[in-house]
Amino acid sequence: MEIIDSDNLQKVQKAFLYPPKFMLSVAKLEQLPPSDKNEVAFAGRSNVGKSSLINALFNRKDVAKTSSTPGRTQQLNYFNMKDLLYLVDLPGYGYAKAPPSEVKRWQQVLLTYLKGRVNLRRVFLLIDSRMGVKKADEDIFEQLDLAAVPYQIVLTKTDKISKAELEEVKKQTASKIKEHPAAHTIILETSAEKKTGLDELRREIASFL
Ligand code: GTP
Ligand code: MG
Repeated sequence: MEIIDSDNLQKVQKAFLYPPKFMLSVAKLEQLPPSDKNEVAFAGRSNVGKSSLINALFNRKDVAKTSSTPGRTQQLNYFNMKDLLYLVDLPGYGYAKAPPSEVKRWQQVLLTYLKGRVNLRRVFLLIDSRMGVKKADEDIFEQLDLAAVPYQIVLTKTDKISKAELEEVKKQTASKIKEHPAAHTIILETSAEKKTGLDELRREIASFL
């Protein structure tokens, strides 16, 4: 792992001292705020831990809504960080406990957003470390490659697996993303529960401030 110099790390951590301001929930693309700031988004299959990870970054429990029911986040939730950056908590793709017609509608909104948002600097694409990369993830990788949207894999819930299992899932994920031109080569590993791997992710986000 890269060594983070301590001065810079302090600056990065300071940027996350206060939670971002909740701005709005977007259900339709017409409701998107103007693309006047850099934007980063948290994507991943339902229940992978997107909302929990956003909370962990800011050391809070109540920035983004979390739930054990897959599909809890059904809209694009916009947060404004220091008036410099939009953070977007996205609905999950794939399975969700909601009426199929509704799921289909918000999946379409999600894909159109991901492929067309001009100020979207990076998508943090979360993968549950217990599951590894699934078909639904590979479909999204391909869509993002086609639209040339930069994305970075973030493994989540690493507290649930052993070190050896983590090494294995990292190896498999690395070999999968080799084929994907828009994927960042560095894979981040996090646990929102144990609060590990957060500084590396904070540093990536802070680079867009
Ligand atoms: P949707 O919005 O429904 O797509 O889900 P999400 O990806 O936002 O997941 P959310 O953050 O709501 O978390 C889903 C479940 O996973 C909750 O029960 C969390 O407590 C749990 N969870 C999230 N992160 C971690 C983690 O790092 N470790 C463990 N053990 N559990 C986690
Ligand atoms: Mg969520």
